[in-house]
Amino acid sequence: MSKSPYQDDRGNKDVTITNPKGMGSVMPKHSGETRPAPGGPFLIGENMTAGYGNGPDILHDCTIAVDRGEIAVIVGPNGAGKSTGMKAVFGMLDMRQGHVRLDGEDITNLSPQARVAKGMGFVPQTSNIFTSMTVEENLEMGAFIRTDDFSDTMAQVFDLFPILKEKRAQAAGELSGGQRQQVAVGRALMTQPKVLMLDEPTAGVSPIVMDELFDRIIEVARTGIPILMVEQNARQALEIADKGYVLVQGRNAYTGTGRELLADPEVRKSFLGG
Ligand SMILES: Nc1ncnc2c1ncn2[C@@H]1O[C@H](COP(=O)(O)OP(=O)(O)O)[C@@H](O)[C@H]1O
Ligand SMILES: [Mg+2]
Repeated sequence: MSKSPYQDDRGNKDVTITNPKGMGSVMPKHSGETRPAPGGPFLIGENMTAGYGNGPDILHDCTIAVDRGEIAVIVGPNGAGKSTGMKAVFGMLDMRQGHVRLDGEDITNLSPQARVAKGMGFVPQTSNIFTSMTVEENLEMGAFIRTDDFSDTMAQVFDLFPILKEKRAQAAGELSGGQRQQVAVGRALMTQPKVLMLDEPTAGVSPIVMDELFDRIIEVARTGIPILMVEQNARQALEIADKGYVLVQGRNAYTGTGRELLADPEVRKSFLGG
């Protein structure tokens, strides 16, 4: 950044959560632009066919991915396999076909723990915090794989979510829905992930809190952490998405930029309420 008084960085409110060598803080908000990683997306679950245990296939040749500097959003009806797709990418089910690649490396056969060590952060749809522990203890638990001093990261999480600092000594179970989701996201950030996966981060919160959470998620993305997220609030999520996936019955039904999907008459009619 130039020292020129005419080029100060007044508008730059980015909080560097992690990854100072990441994509930086210049990604324009709501840009719709993508920057494909050389050699493919940063994280991709490609042509995934998978199910639970010995049960039927839930995912059928399904592909979801996120590029560097991007927010990618997965939408679709209840039971479409959105959460299953996220779990498959995180290594929680056996893949019957397909691959998961992180930064070009095939990680299909790694355990979820090994994927965290490789830089994946995941906030599952349910049971994503320890309700009987304090906010601070939840964040400490998030840092479980770290052997270094993580106090700076905790300070960054508190900068991103100031209410958590205020309530750091309170049991997480006593917090509101939106605040609990902040704990869950904060907990995932404690590992300094290179990519963050969020399954319905705004589930059950009011529209105002949803907007607030989306703003924080955009802020995280702008610090250089690509975000792959599932959302029920399809229209609002596609508005902030660089790329969107509509899943139906475990298959890719529509894929495009957020803008393209919002403009697609079929997508609008079937998934966005007209
Ligand atoms: N743990 C599980 N064991 C067996 N089947 C499951 C499990 N979780 C989800 N399913 C089934 O997988 C399908 C997709 O579910 P899910 O991925 O949760 O959908 P979505 O997140 O899109 O609402 C559903 O038919 C659901 O019943
Ligand atoms: Mg789900």
